[in-house]
Amino acid sequence: MQVDPWSLTAIKDYSKLMKEFGVDDFSDYAKKLPNAPLEIKRNLVIGHKNFEKIYECIKKKSKFAILTGLMPSGSFHLGHMSVINQVIYYQKLGAKIYLLAADIETQLTRNISQEQARKIAIEEYLTNYFALGVSTKNLEFYFQSDGPKLKTKEYVNLSKLASAKTTFNEIKAIYGEISPQKLISALTQVADILYPQLEGYKATLTPIGFDQLNHANLVRDLASRMKFSLPSFTFHKLLPGLKGMSSKMSSSDPNNAIFLTDSPKTVELKIKKYAFSGGQATEEEHKKKGGNPEIDISFIYLKTTFEQDDKKLEKIYNDYKSGKLLTSELKQIAIDKINSFLKTHQKNREKARKQVDKLLQKS
Ligand code: TRP
Repeated sequence: MQVDPWSLTAIKDYSKLMKEFGVDDFSDYAKKLPNAPLEIKRNLVIGHKNFEKIYECIKKKSKFAILTGLMPSGSFHLGHMSVINQVIYYQKLGAKIYLLAADIETQLTRNISQEQARKIAIEEYLTNYFALGVSTKNLEFYFQSDGPKLKTKEYVNLSKLASAKTTFNEIKAIYGEISPQKLISALTQVADILYPQLEGYKATLTPIGFDQLNHANLVRDLASRMKFSLPSFTFHKLLPGLKGMSSKMSSSDPNNAIFLTDSPKTVELKIKKYAFSGGQATEEEHKKKGGNPEIDISFIYLKTTFEQDDKKLEKIYNDYKSGKLLTSELKQIAIDKINSFLKTHQKNREKARKQVDKLLQKS
């Protein structure tokens, strides 16, 4: 089984993938972590490597860092929120946050100019991050093409030095055939993930989607050979697109994604027209047989992202399954929830612009 971090395909069998790549089960931590965001509580985050190290830091209140990177390649959608809600959670627990924009990676692998990448990073990602609740306190940000403010040279050299610690055979075993650009992107990401250790953080966590699994494996192989500590990871399932569980939300297919800048009308249209339904073909049949919430995209979005109240979610689940709640009604619940979230969020985006300006002056 192979994952390709640069392609758009959805992952079919997560447990097989986890077994094959030595990813551990996260469910015990998901239960133990206090006040965790829905992504963790409702089992979107299902795997980890070495999370015990981070859990110890949380328990003992010792220092740890979160390192996360954003790929500035398109519009910000619900899927991108899964990472950032976790980052906000750990930041509130006291973690130092390292955040980078992978503008080298977008130039190399997506053919997006540096100027364009910066614009997308600011307008789409950073503005949404702050609007969602990331704080500028205890946060360091850099573009890959600049490197971090401190130890810039060490960072730049790190990806080059990493190349001496691997072989083409190993790279092929991890990634399959890859181009020189992709290899450079992967080694740059290795430097990103190890960088907080240069600033003295020996316990670091990178929350990522399973599409990034290869990078996690590479950096962990290289870390020990380069005399670094092993970085920890959590892995979340990729949020499905509107068209169904076997699709992945992505910026390149607007009819399969909900963007955080979508208008209420657009959201309504997208859910009504595209959101895959687990309901029956006719109302009569639905009332008799009931629907399947597990594959119903409106339900999935409520579960993973929008319905905070466990009891309400359970009621929706049961009513839909029994056929009492119709598809059109379930869709309306989702539309209302998403639109009320977006209304507040889009207002918060205005305030967030000031925070972005401040951050960019600082870095
Ligand atoms: N490759 C990541 C993506 O496609 C972006 C990225 C670059 C990243 N460096 C990172 C993610 C370090 C996590 C940690 O989204």
